[in-house]
Amino acid sequence: MASSSRSQFSSRFGFIMAAAGSAVGLGNVWGFPTQAASNGGAVFLIVYLCMVFLLAYPMLVAEMTIGRYGQSNAIRSFRAGWPKGQLGAILLGVVGLVVVSLILSFYAIVAGWLMGSFADSGMNLFGIHDHTHWLTTFSTSRNLILMVTFMLLTMYVVRNGVADGIEKWSTRLMPLLFILFFVLTAYIFTQDGAMEGLKMYLIPDLSHLTPELCVSAMGQAFFSLSLGVCVMTTYGSYLKKDANIPKTAAQVALIDTGVAFTAGLMVLPAMFVAKQNGVQIFSDTGALLNSDTLVFDVLPAMFNTMGIVGALVGAIFFLLMIIAALTSSISMLEVPVSCATEELKLSRNKAVLFIGGLITLVSAIVVVNFSDLFGLVVTFTTVYSQPIIALLITLIVGWIWNRNQILGELKQGCPDIEQGWFWKIWPWYVRVVCPILMLLVFFA
Ligand code: PFF
Repeated sequence: MASSSRSQFSSRFGFIMAAAGSAVGLGNVWGFPTQAASNGGAVFLIVYLCMVFLLAYPMLVAEMTIGRYGQSNAIRSFRAGWPKGQLGAILLGVVGLVVVSLILSFYAIVAGWLMGSFADSGMNLFGIHDHTHWLTTFSTSRNLILMVTFMLLTMYVVRNGVADGIEKWSTRLMPLLFILFFVLTAYIFTQDGAMEGLKMYLIPDLSHLTPELCVSAMGQAFFSLSLGVCVMTTYGSYLKKDANIPKTAAQVALIDTGVAFTAGLMVLPAMFVAKQNGVQIFSDTGALLNSDTLVFDVLPAMFNTMGIVGALVGAIFFLLMIIAALTSSISMLEVPVSCATEELKLSRNKAVLFIGGLITLVSAIVVVNFSDLFGLVVTFTTVYSQPIIALLITLIVGWIWNRNQILGELKQGCPDIEQGWFWKIWPWYVRVVCPILMLLVFFA
């Protein structure tokens, strides 16, 4: 299956930054903290951590292993791992790439809003307050223009290929993201009210523990690690044969979880700093305001109460979100693009233009019918499709692949794996425990 002329990540660091770049996104910086805030803080954090280590990490290893074995796009990699089920493998790959394209179609809309908020904070910083209203006010024209801008940026990076596009941009942007994150979190901690948020985040109140919370935490963990949509299979296929997959996957999962945890350390205290500054964060019924209100209204309102420093902090915050979104969106576009270049023999330029254009069109349809379609697309892709496809991928690895095939693949880059605990646990864990756990949580 391997083709020698195929692109690869040039270094293990590059791969880790790209895969962590895919994983670290709006799901971490926005989704996780706001879900934690509205689900009792610490309890959500604990359940989420369990979901990442008990379910998402073993599945991440499974997805990367299939990709590295196939050394090809997701469709062909599934076929390589499932020789007797060619039709099923093709179907799974196609469904995966449709779902990931749909995720990109809503992700680009949200990323567009972030670009608007970033431009607004930047202009405030320079004392420009006129004409900025459009950037932060919901309208079809704003949503369309900003979404198209973000899609063009994504297409530009992916057009440059795996090493010169995705890897180069991820290795530049991810360290910058970590630095901005650190600065911002440290700053929030110096503000009055921050400790109240910290308490909510770190002291568990078990009365919040419900089956719904477990389902939300599972969905969040899958979304956060970009599972079930062939991204990690595709990135795994660009991984060199001497890379140690369990270790690399653990590093990616740790970075992703570390960023989500830190985002909680930043956003929950920031909410209470905002409250201290007179900004409303709870509705009249005592419930937390919904998540987009938090990020797009509450936090900017807090930045506004801090004068010029606030404008700078606001600009940094939104820049950080845009970087996180871009390193994720490029991984999404790469999935269908790699299929089109290898299956349809299109040039990368054409594939990016054609597929990126198509996703932009779908996204525009969602923008124009926002109230009917946006929530629907989010729920269909993230609540249902991602966990189900992830389950199917695990079943291929657990039940269809034979032990020697998997061992052979994992041994490359990790020759003594047979002696370690990972090898004793992981195969049956993926085969039995992961599917049962998922079904339990799903039907709960
Ligand atoms: N993991 C990204 C986040 O946390 O924002 C979202 C994501 C990226 C989902 C890539 C799916 C995907 F294929």
